[in-house]
Amino acid sequence: MNLDYIQVRPEHADALVALEAVAFPTADRGELLSVEGVLKQCEMFPEGGFVVVDRDAGDRVVAFAMGCFVDFDFSAPQHHIDEVVGTLGSDHHQEFGEWYYGTDIAVAEDYQRLGIGRQLYELRKDLIKRLNRAGMVAGGVIPGFANHKHEMTAAQYVERVAAGDLFDPTLTMQIANGFEALGALENYWTDQAVDSWASLIVWRNPEFDAEQLAAERAGAVEGMSRG
Ligand SMILES: CC(C)(COP(=O)(O)OP(=O)(O)OC[C@H]1O[C@@H](n2cnc3c(N)ncnc32)[C@H](O)[C@@H]1OP(=O)(O)O)[C@@H](O)C(=O)NCCC(=O)NCCS
Repeated sequence: MNLDYIQVRPEHADALVALEAVAFPTADRGELLSVEGVLKQCEMFPEGGFVVVDRDAGDRVVAFAMGCFVDFDFSAPQHHIDEVVGTLGSDHHQEFGEWYYGTDIAVAEDYQRLGIGRQLYELRKDLIKRLNRAGMVAGGVIPGFANHKHEMTAAQYVERVAAGDLFDPTLTMQIANGFEALGALENYWTDQAVDSWASLIVWRNPEFDAEQLAAERAGAVEGMSRG
């Protein structure tokens, strides 16, 4: 296995759409990543998209992660994913947005549990540190909730997974990667298996310099007004 981690490009679109469909089998197809969504990421913020290619398997695309910068309002955290990032996944990208919003991450089934997901999270964290952003926020899927939704609320489920009492195939991994679960998101995207619930997860950049980002943002606005 000879894995390369590269920036997303338009020619990856079909492979990423196929990977996403397999990774989220119970989600509404219409709300999953589309070819247009990949092209939008390439246009708006290619540095925010990471693709993993196996050079020993004919350049097979085996994993990816994408996201964009937004200002996230933690005082009103409930949201449908489209409200924050737009229907294509990065339409609302803001060059100086404080947070990297993780829109998608998926690893092909036969490549899971090899550390690829962890490496993709590391690459996102490196980008956030390099560009001095507050951290990463995302709605995380909670596939394991499907088996518990008749005995507890989504908020209770997220709390119990975060406490280590219950295992969730996705949220447990995110917590193992330094994420904090802040609670449950209602109607995050359509997924009947979990009644459209998700978790709100966050990773905070310990090196973030808010004043520096504010100065860069102000400088860009000033530059624009000067033409
Ligand atoms: C979630 C996902 C991206 C993880 O990718 P991965 O490459 O398998 O994850 P890694 O091998 O890097 O695992 C990282 C850590 O998570 C934990 N972990 C991952 N999968 C696990 C599992 N099935 N059981 C227990 N722990 C697991 C481990 O602690 C692992 O740490 P380790 O390196 O010390 O073993 C992958 O399973 C996936 O694509 N799932 C479907 C799509 C999805 O849910 N995406 C997330 C959207 S919010």
